[in-house]
Amino acid sequence: MLITFEGIDGAGKSTQIKKLQILLQKEGLESITLREPGGTEVAEKIRSILLESRHEISPVGELLLFSATRSELVQQVILPALQKGIIVILDRFYDSTRAYQGYGRGIDLSILETIISLSTYNLKPDVTFYLDIKPEEALIRKFSEKSLPLAFENDDLDRMERSGLEFFRKVRNGYLDIIRLEPQRFTVLNALEPPVVLHRQIIEKLRTKIPALEARNHY
Ligand code: TMP
Repeated sequence: MLITFEGIDGAGKSTQIKKLQILLQKEGLESITLREPGGTEVAEKIRSILLESRHEISPVGELLLFSATRSELVQQVILPALQKGIIVILDRFYDSTRAYQGYGRGIDLSILETIISLSTYNLKPDVTFYLDIKPEEALIRKFSEKSLPLAFENDDLDRMERSGLEFFRKVRNGYLDIIRLEPQRFTVLNALEPPVVLHRQIIEKLRTKIPALEARNHY
C-alpha cells in the first residue's frame, strides 16, 4: 500500500507522517517512510541542488530534476518495498509536481502528465492525505505576524520556499483543482486542526484500507 501526503510548505505533513509511522510500528505493521525529493543517494544529491537557495534553476530544469529523483526512488526503493508487502509512506509524490511545477510555475499540464507517468512507472498512491492551509497561515506558523513582510527574504528558507506568496496561492489552488478531478483518492484535512485531531482523521480513513487497524477503536 502506498500512502502519500501532500500540501504546501508549512502545512504540517511531517508531524502527521511521524505519528502515523509510530502507530504502524506499534501495530506491528512493516512500513517505510520516504520523502520526495530524496530517498536514494543520487536523489538526495539532486535534492540539495534543487533546494539550495543560491541556485537559479529554470522551471523546465526544475521539473526534470524533480522527475529524475522520483524515477530513482520509485524504481530502487518504492516498487521493491511494495512488492514485499511493506506499507510505504511518502512525503510528497507526483501531485507536488502538478501543483508546484504545473500550477505554480505554469508548465503545460498535459506535458507534465507524460513526464509523471514516465518517472513513476505509472505507480499511483492508494490514498493521499492533503493538508490544506492558506499560504498566509502557513507563513504565520513559521514567522511572527510582524516579520511577515520580509518573510520571503529570510535566510532559513530554501529555494522553493522563497518563491513568494502569489506562487503559493497558485500552488494551493492547484491542489484544490487536482483534488476536484480525483476526489476518491484524496482525503482533505484542515491543517489548522490540532495534530491529534488530524491524526485521528487519518486513522479513520486508513482503517477502511488496512484490516489490522480496523479492529482498533481508540487512538
Ligand atoms: P520538503 O521536502 O520540505 O517538502 O521540500 C520539498 C520542496 O520541493 C517543497 O517546496 C515542494 C517542492 N517540490 C516541487 O516543487 N515539486 C515536486 O515534484 C516535489 C516532490 C517537491
